[in-house]
Amino acid sequence: MKLFLNIISAIAVAALVPLDLQNRNFEVKTTTIPSELSNNQTFANFISTKYGLDGPQLSGVNSSSFDWWYFDAVSPDAQTAISVIFFTSVNSGFPLLSSPSNVTSIVISFRFANGTIGFIPLFASEAIIKTVGQGSSGTFTGTGVSWKGSPDLSEYCVELDSPAIKGTFTLQSTSPAHYPCSAVKPGQSLLVAPHIGWSNALPDADAAVDFAILGSKMKFKGSAYHDKNWGDQPWNANMASEYWGHVRIGPYKIVWLNVIDRTGTEHISAYASRNNRILTASCSPDSLLVRPINSTYPPSIATADPTAFSIVLNLGHEGTLRANVTAVADLVNAAPVYRRWSGTAVGAVNGGKPLTGYGVWEQFKFV
Ligand SMILES: *[C@@H]1O[C@H](CO)[C@@H](O)[C@H](O)[C@H]1NC(C)=O
Ligand SMILES: *[C@@H]1O[C@H](CO)[C@@H](O)[C@H](O)[C@H]1NC(C)=O
Ligand SMILES: *[C@@H]1O[C@H](CO)[C@@H](O)[C@H](O)[C@H]1NC(C)=O
Ligand SMILES: *[C@@H]1O[C@H](CO)[C@@H](O)[C@H](O)[C@H]1NC(C)=O
Ligand SMILES: *[C@@H]1O[C@H](CO)[C@@H](O)[C@H](O)[C@H]1NC(C)=O
Ligand SMILES: *[C@@H]1O[C@H](CO)[C@@H](O)[C@H](O)[C@H]1NC(C)=O
Repeated sequence: MKLFLNIISAIAVAALVPLDLQNRNFEVKTTTIPSELSNNQTFANFISTKYGLDGPQLSGVNSSSFDWWYFDAVSPDAQTAISVIFFTSVNSGFPLLSSPSNVTSIVISFRFANGTIGFIPLFASEAIIKTVGQGSSGTFTGTGVSWKGSPDLSEYCVELDSPAIKGTFTLQSTSPAHYPCSAVKPGQSLLVAPHIGWSNALPDADAAVDFAILGSKMKFKGSAYHDKNWGDQPWNANMASEYWGHVRIGPYKIVWLNVIDRTGTEHISAYASRNNRILTASCSPDSLLVRPINSTYPPSIATADPTAFSIVLNLGHEGTLRANVTAVADLVNAAPVYRRWSGTAVGAVNGGKPLTGYGVWEQFKFV
C-alpha cells in the first residue's frame, strides 16, 4: 500500500515537469535525439537529481540550445592529444559548429607528436543516449562513433569505427566526479554562469588511446578527462569570455573554470583531488584565481592570446596551490574566439617543494 501511494504521488509530481526531464530520479533512461531541430521551447535542467549526472539535460534541442559530451586525452609530454566531442546543437546554439540545421554531430580533433593537427567532423541521423545510474552511453547513428560509461562513473570507453578514424580510447577514473559548486549529491546547482550547465563526470582519468587516424597510428597513455555542458540559450549569449582547464600536477588533479558573463560578472568553479579524494569542489570566490601571465585581463578579441596562465587554487586543509601552466602546442586554433592548448605545469603548495605536471586548457573570447 505504501508503495502504491508512493507511485501515485510520483506520478502527480511528474505531471508538473516537462516530459523529457521527469524520469531523472529513475535509474535507467533512454533518450533519442533526432538530427532535426525542435521548434518547441527547450527546458533545461540546472539542479542535480539522484541519478543522471552524465545524461541529456534538455527537453529537446531547438535553435538556441546546446548539450554536448566532451572527452579528451593528452600525453605526459603534452605533444600528442585527442578530443572527441558529441554535440546535440546547431551553430546558432554553439557558434563553433558548422551546421545550421543538423543537431547530431561529432567533432574529433587530434595532434600528432610531430605537430600535425587536424579535425574530423561527422554527422549522425540521430543520437541515442542511455543513462544508467550517474553514467551514460551514446550512439550517434551512422557515424560508427559511440561512448560507453559505467553507472558509477569509474570507467568510460570511446569507440571509433569510421572510415577516417578507427580505434578505442579508454578512460579509467582517478578522481571523483563533481558539480560546479559541490561533490555529487542531489539538489545542487549545475550552473557555471547564467543559462550554462556543467557536470564533470571524469575530472581526471588514466587514458589509453589506440587509433588509426587517416591511416596513421596514434597510440599513447596519459591523462584523460570527460565533462558535459548544456544550456537553453546560445553558449555565447551569456558569455564574454571563458577559461577552463585540467591538469595533473604532482599528486593533484585539478580543474578550473572561469566565466565572465555579459554583465561583466566573474563566475568560477574550482576542483582538486588527491588519491581519488576530493579536496576542493567549490564555486566560492576565494577558491580560485585564474589569470593570463603575459596578456590582458579581462581577455578581449582585440588583444593577443596568452601563452601561459597563473592558477591559484585553494586546496582546503592542504593549503594553496600556486601553479603556472605554459602552452606547448595549439590543439585547436580558432583565434581570436577560441584556442585550446596542451602544455606543462609547474607549481608548489604553500611554497613547498616544486611540483610538475601537464594537461589541456582553453580560452573563449566573444567581446
Ligand atoms: C514538441 O512538443 C510536442 C508537445 O509536447 C511533442 O509532441 C513533440 O514531439 C515535440 N517536438 C519535438 C521535435 O521535440
Ligand atoms: C528555444 O527554447 C528557448 C528556451 O525555452 C526559448 O527561449 C526559445 O524561444 C526557443 N527557440 C525557438 C526557436 O523556439
Ligand atoms: C544529419 O546528417 C546525417 C548524416 O549525413 C543525415 O543522415 C541526417 O539526415 C542529417 N540531418 C539533418 C537534419 O540534416
Ligand atoms: C606527422 O605524423 C603523422 C602521423 O604519423 C603523419 O601522418 C604526418 O604525415 C606527419 N607530418 C609530417 C609533417 O611529417
Ligand atoms: C607571452 O610570452 C611569450 C614568450 O615570452 C611570447 O612568445 C608571447 O608573444 C607573449 N604574449 C604576449 C601577449 O605578450
Ligand atoms: C609563475 O609566473 C610568474 C610570472 O612570470 C612568476 O613570477 C612566478 O614565479 C611563476 N611561478 C612558478 C611556480 O613558476
